[in-house]
Amino acid sequence: MLVRATGARRILEIGTSNGYSTLWLAEAARALGGRVTTVEWAAGRWSMAGEHFARAGLADVIESLHAEAGRVLDREAPASRDLVFLDADRERYVDWWPVVRETLAPGGLLVVDNATSHADELAPFIDLVEADDDFTTSLVPVGKGEFLATRTPASATA
Ligand SMILES: C[S@@+](CC[C@H](N)C(=O)[O-])C[C@H]1O[C@@H](n2cnc3c(N)ncnc32)[C@H](O)[C@@H]1O
Repeated sequence: MLVRATGARRILEIGTSNGYSTLWLAEAARALGGRVTTVEWAAGRWSMAGEHFARAGLADVIESLHAEAGRVLDREAPASRDLVFLDADRERYVDWWPVVRETLAPGGLLVVDNATSHADELAPFIDLVEADDDFTTSLVPVGKGEFLATRTPASATA
């Protein structure tokens, strides 16, 4: 729903696991002519996810990377993503934030899972994003809690 509502076509997911969330993102991305890049460092999960992508007929809109997420983030071009979904090693989010924020295009959306299920762990990261004047944030208490942050579009006025 978030992909379709924002029209996000350039999507980055950090934390593939077996690819369940990737399939949802990819199905929506395909409808918009977009693509999903997803990152997983555990070989068994990455391999299983690839099988799921093929079986679902969505492999052509998914770039599935077997890699450490920090290394992938370091290669991201500025303003190159419309939506970033963070669902991985929560302890790393604070360190990743400077790169994630640059990767998000104006109007881009950050989605962070486990915002209520692991609220204490995520508190330092959420504080950091909420203190950033370029972002508008919201906590959506569905499932395990989704923290949303959108980068103010360049044309927006205060
Ligand atoms: C909660 S699972 C992802 C679930 C998936 N997004 C879903 O909703 O279906 C988190 C995954 O992130 C991976 N992960 C954690 N830290 C990572 C890192 N630094 N680089 C790459 N993958 C990482 C873990 O191996 C694990 O499979």
